[in-house]
Amino acid sequence: MRRKPVERLMAEGGQGAGGALRRSLSMWQLTMISIGATLGTGIFVVLGEATPLAGPAVAISFVLAGLTALFSALSYAELAGSIPVSGSSYSYAYATMGELVAWVCGWCLVLEYGISVAAVAVGWGQYLDELLDGTLGVTIPDAVSAPLGEGGFVNLPALVVILLAMVFLMGGAKESARINATMVVIKIVTLLLFCGIGFFGIQAGNYAPLAPLGVTGVSAAAATLFFSYIGFDAASTAGEEAKNPKRDLPRAIMLSLLIVTVLYCVVALVAVGAMPWQDFGDTDAALARIMADVTGTDLWSVVLAAGAVVAIASVVFAVLYGQTRILFAMSRDGLVPRVFARVDARTGTPRANTLIVSAFCGILAATIPLGELADATSIGTLFAFALVNVAVIVLRRTRPTMNRTFRVALFPLTPLLGFGFCVWMMASLPAATWAVFGGWMAVGLAVYFLYGVRHSRLAADDAEAAADG
Ligand code: ALA
Repeated sequence: MRRKPVERLMAEGGQGAGGALRRSLSMWQLTMISIGATLGTGIFVVLGEATPLAGPAVAISFVLAGLTALFSALSYAELAGSIPVSGSSYSYAYATMGELVAWVCGWCLVLEYGISVAAVAVGWGQYLDELLDGTLGVTIPDAVSAPLGEGGFVNLPALVVILLAMVFLMGGAKESARINATMVVIKIVTLLLFCGIGFFGIQAGNYAPLAPLGVTGVSAAAATLFFSYIGFDAASTAGEEAKNPKRDLPRAIMLSLLIVTVLYCVVALVAVGAMPWQDFGDTDAALARIMADVTGTDLWSVVLAAGAVVAIASVVFAVLYGQTRILFAMSRDGLVPRVFARVDARTGTPRANTLIVSAFCGILAATIPLGELADATSIGTLFAFALVNVAVIVLRRTRPTMNRTFRVALFPLTPLLGFGFCVWMMASLPAATWAVFGGWMAVGLAVYFLYGVRHSRLAADDAEAAADG
């Protein structure tokens, strides 16, 4: 139960092996990182899967999932403003609940970031295919666009998008932030375009009955849609590259969540208004179909597919970034090998780390059928979020007078609600997802007891201090 003092976390901020990360990111760039990591597969793909669960009330499901995200986002904002380092919830847990919980949290973050990058990259390939089909009339052969077990040998598009992201990320945080911002603007414009055009297809009758499958359906859809909010916390992995992290991180987290929630709810309202909810189950690309139906031409659905390709690529990009920075923090603490904390002197980025993480995610995406992994990602994320809500409560008790640039309102009600919502969402996920999660945690604990516990720098320093004393 070794805890890492907040002061020590902060003093080590930015420092890696052989150099320091470069502080270059503004509040807007941080917001864009969070939106970049968030807005993608969830709205373009998962909406289509969740609508048959809830009916037109899927828009309410978005609000419920958004509330879960909101309470946790407030807790993230408080902690990111208090302990602005790169490890996100992993570091907050280390400071408040000790090393084992921190490891468990970090291991959940690998589900949230690393595994989800691979899953999202697979979804990207599907949209790319759609785009190629719509523009050139060609599709990528199954043999090279699906892994073994799904009718092919390897998923090359998924590998390619991860490698592209890797190349850009290695260029430096500032350059990456610019590319990311461009992609974010494109995806927001695409969704606004969808709303503008889809609005003309709305038929009031499509909204009734609002919740044909009852409250259970609405909450099951909310749990599935939670996936679409994952990533708003990505700014908190950039704590050591932000120019003014204490001020800007809380703002970026809250702002990105606000923008994303409003967009999601409006898109969902337009979508279920423009197409009967029962039809969502028949198509993989509901939004593109609505565009085609409303305009009577395929042109707009091609535009939408192009927007989705950019949108999902930007999720890959920003989430990959987050994963490298979380491992950076874990490596500095000795819980994963040291190479993850090595900083390249020229670019001020952890290049070796980026290379290894990308190779790992790329191979995973190219060879393993990952279509079903979205829910597993959600459960890991919800677990990490639940811990962040607890961490806020613990830190207020252990360090009541600490300088906090952002404080959650109505303490302790808000973090308790955040915790409760996370547990509720987790409970709404299917048993199979829990089984995957249980297996994942068992592997994580084994890794910790075989490696982390023996290499922990905090443990080594404590032992040294005891020997000296
Ligand atoms: N929230 C991210 C997405 O929807 C993971 O793609």
